[in-house]
Amino acid sequence: MPSMQPMQDHQVNPDTTVIILAAGQGTRMRSRQPKVLHPLGGRPLLAHVIDTARALEPARIVVVHGHGGEAVRAALADAPVTWVEQGEQLGTGHAVAQALPAAQGAERILVLYGDVPLVGADALRALLTALDGHDLAVQSMRLSDPSGYGRILRDDTGRPVGIVEQKDASAAQRAIDEVNTGFLAARGERLAAWLQRVDRDNAQGEYYLTDCLALAVADGAAVTAVVADDPEQFMGVNDRVQLARLERVHQRRLAEALMRSGVTVMDPARLDIRGRVQAGRDVILDVNVVLEGEVTLEEGVRVGPHCCLRDCHVEADAVIQAHSHLEGARVGPGACIGPFARLRPGAHLAAGVHVGNFVEVKKSRVGEGSKINHLSYVGDARVGRGVNIGAGTITCNYDGAAKHLTVIGDGAFIGSNTALVAPVTVGEDATIGAGSVIHRDAPAGRLTLTRAEQHTREDWQRPKKPDPAP
Ligand code: UD1
Ligand code: CA
Repeated sequence: MPSMQPMQDHQVNPDTTVIILAAGQGTRMRSRQPKVLHPLGGRPLLAHVIDTARALEPARIVVVHGHGGEAVRAALADAPVTWVEQGEQLGTGHAVAQALPAAQGAERILVLYGDVPLVGADALRALLTALDGHDLAVQSMRLSDPSGYGRILRDDTGRPVGIVEQKDASAAQRAIDEVNTGFLAARGERLAAWLQRVDRDNAQGEYYLTDCLALAVADGAAVTAVVADDPEQFMGVNDRVQLARLERVHQRRLAEALMRSGVTVMDPARLDIRGRVQAGRDVILDVNVVLEGEVTLEEGVRVGPHCCLRDCHVEADAVIQAHSHLEGARVGPGACIGPFARLRPGAHLAAGVHVGNFVEVKKSRVGEGSKINHLSYVGDARVGRGVNIGAGTITCNYDGAAKHLTVIGDGAFIGSNTALVAPVTVGEDATIGAGSVIHRDAPAGRLTLTRAEQHTREDWQRPKKPDPAP
């Protein structure tokens, strides 16, 4: 089954330390939360960058955090990175300098941004390759609207000689459409030496990492600037408008990867994947499907419009009909769920099970071919095979203090509107009469029912409204 996870790289980069800058305040997000924790595809921006860095298998990944650092570290506690705090945000050059001690004399250093989440491992490999025979390689791109970015300055021979920030640039320099993505690769020792010489003598009073290019040229070092052929992947997030734009790019890529692996996506613009999806051939995803967490859809599974699946495994050829909500559920092969069904954690349905509209199933196993087609709640239950649960049946699993188990044997037939007061067991092939309140075990093969006598009052007349006053 094709996986949506990034391809693993087998080329190891033990001479390389990756430094990810993530200390910026992200003021323009206007958020209580640090920018790099805002989600893209359901995961923090920074998690995407760390994943991509990991694909390179570097010796070390150092993340520079600042504002909200504790929250960032807590959210990514499992990430195999070294955290470095930048107390004051004095600029990108200052940020990299804070990380250098943790880089432990790395031969090569690769600088990434925690708010540029779409960059692919291939582009980073290309940047590292471009460093071969050079001391510094900066990643640039051409933009029809370069405003806001640092511009790449080249001499008459086309050699890059410096980077000038928008705020420091002359009118002529601002017309340059080749901009600095911010990503660069450098020889570790040289970078450390240049950073010591970077000053704050500029419009923003910051230590600019970008000044290293001019310092390198002044030293006679070998420098290069690699122009990206796919600028989309170097787009950053400064505000929520850009975040939404990147989300669409990310979603389109995921949808395209699914389609290429044999999945029919009815409208790639109306599918949202917030996690990891594994999907077999001939899976069909209708419009407005949201897949969250770890979702596995085996061959031939169809998901109808407006369905939400989180942490679910759906086996081959099962059908999830419109407006169903599934979380932590396992759906057996050929099962049919919905429309308007709700499967909650621990719903474990065997092959061919039918769960219909307005049915909620929680922490229950339901055996092969059983049907719960209308308006029921089944919680904390073990339902056998070939069971038919009539409309409106409720497992009364909670007594106000504890949850109790309902066991229904193979082949049982539960009449409509039955209340099964747990703990209770219904035997194999038992039949429960409609409207019963079953609070003691019902024996196998028998009809059990609780039912008040039905009366008809011959002498009763419906009260009449008084005639309206004349
Ligand atoms: C930077 C570049 C600019 C480039 C642009 C691309 C510099 C001086 N300028 O500008 O040439 O075109 O990125 O987006 O490098 N950060 C820290 N600590 C700091 C400052 C920044 O960790 O003290 C981090 C931010 O969190 C962010 C990244 O560095 O991830 C870039 O910072 P930002 O302020 O966005 O840089 P720009 O001014 O956009
Ligand atoms: Ca920025």
